[in-house]
Amino acid sequence: MQHFTIIQALCRAAIADASPAARKQIERLRDAIAKDGDPKQAAAITSILTAAERTRELSPSRIERSRAPIAGEALTRSTPVPVDRETAAALADIIFPADIQPTAPLFNPTVSEAVGTIIEEWAHFDALAEIDIRPSKTCLIYGAPGTGKTRLALWIAQELDLPVVLVKLDGLVSSFLGTTARNIGNLFAFANRYRCILLLDEFDAIAKVRDDPQEVGEIKRVVNALLQNLDVRRDVGFTIGITNHPKLLDPAVWRRFEVQLEIPKPDFEMRKAIAAHFAPPVQAPDAHLRLISWFTEGATGAEIESLVRSYKKATAIREGDRRGLLDTLRQFATLNAARVQSERRALLFDDTSNLFRAMRDDPDLGFSMTDIGEIAGRDKSTVSRQIGRAARVDEGEVQHG
Ligand SMILES: Nc1ncnc2c1ncn2[C@@H]1O[C@H](COP(=O)(O)OP(=O)(O)OP(=O)(O)O)[C@@H](O)[C@H]1O
Ligand SMILES: [Mg+2]
Repeated sequence: MQHFTIIQALCRAAIADASPAARKQIERLRDAIAKDGDPKQAAAITSILTAAERTRELSPSRIERSRAPIAGEALTRSTPVPVDRETAAALADIIFPADIQPTAPLFNPTVSEAVGTIIEEWAHFDALAEIDIRPSKTCLIYGAPGTGKTRLALWIAQELDLPVVLVKLDGLVSSFLGTTARNIGNLFAFANRYRCILLLDEFDAIAKVRDDPQEVGEIKRVVNALLQNLDVRRDVGFTIGITNHPKLLDPAVWRRFEVQLEIPKPDFEMRKAIAAHFAPPVQAPDAHLRLISWFTEGATGAEIESLVRSYKKATAIREGDRRGLLDTLRQFATLNAARVQSERRALLFDDTSNLFRAMRDDPDLGFSMTDIGEIAGRDKSTVSRQIGRAARVDEGEVQHG
């Protein structure tokens, strides 16, 4: 390949800041070169990648940045994870802080403060130790699907600069319950050996095995294995459990968690903030964000994210045509029929002048004619005429048809 030395230098410069995106592109380049049949150059790129890995692991700045004084060996990308003996499936995935999205998920102030407290406690570990207090080492996060629970747990890990041992429950819960108990033991032993956060995502899956009436004795063994391991782990490292179904958890398991954090569905302001968070690089006008928030009452962050994705697509395809938002909202209301409040849903499919009037009169939205014009893709005098006409139709001054 021509100019390969420059390409090598570029790769070295790009990987120096340890961004996962840069790393991924360099890996792509390496694979493409290998495919083109140049193994020597591909190997040269691989060695840039491994050298960067090594410096990153040893880099003093990272050790300094690390705020959570948790004991244990350091996990590396080559540490072998435990596997299920029957199926050879991995029992966990390791996620490193550098691979985690660096922006905090958005929650209401009460939840954000609670999360901040957990992180602060770890940051002031030494001060707390002086008065014989230790930070909370077990945290249960629960709430509806798509409210950002997994993202929150990963973000906490990133803030504490700790890798995550993410339990893969499909691997862990084996068809043989005896094996399940052993897998739980192996997995906890692994997590206790290394400096990490143990993340038990979709934790209720372990609780669910208890529903099988034929296996009562064995199931007790599984739950007992879990309880014993949680007890031992409490003195060793940080554990986060996540569930959508807190009621399915055995009360004894539930009690093991010092912090029990409920993630509620986002309110109007949070929905707007979540929409704004996912909008870039598209510049969404404030009126658009408010309307999205209005129509997504009762929706989760994941649903808003997906709606904003459609909105961005529509905006990109029909550049300059602002009406994309109403079409996107109609699509969302059709696909999420039960989730959109029925009156608001009906308005979307009604005559637009009625929709505009409702927008103008809604106290939550507080829309001006200019705002409505922004959404309708028309100037405000046209909108005002349309609303006036709709009002006269209602008062019977204008004949239908
Ligand atoms: N409050 C939020 N702030 C920012 N992003 C959010 C929020 N809630 C959800 N999301 C986004 O929605 C998607 C799903 O989030 P996540 O997987 O964390 O949800 P979850 O609560 O773990 O869902 P499940 O219970 O289905 O596993 C992610 O892409 C995330 O970025
Ligand atoms: Mg999740």
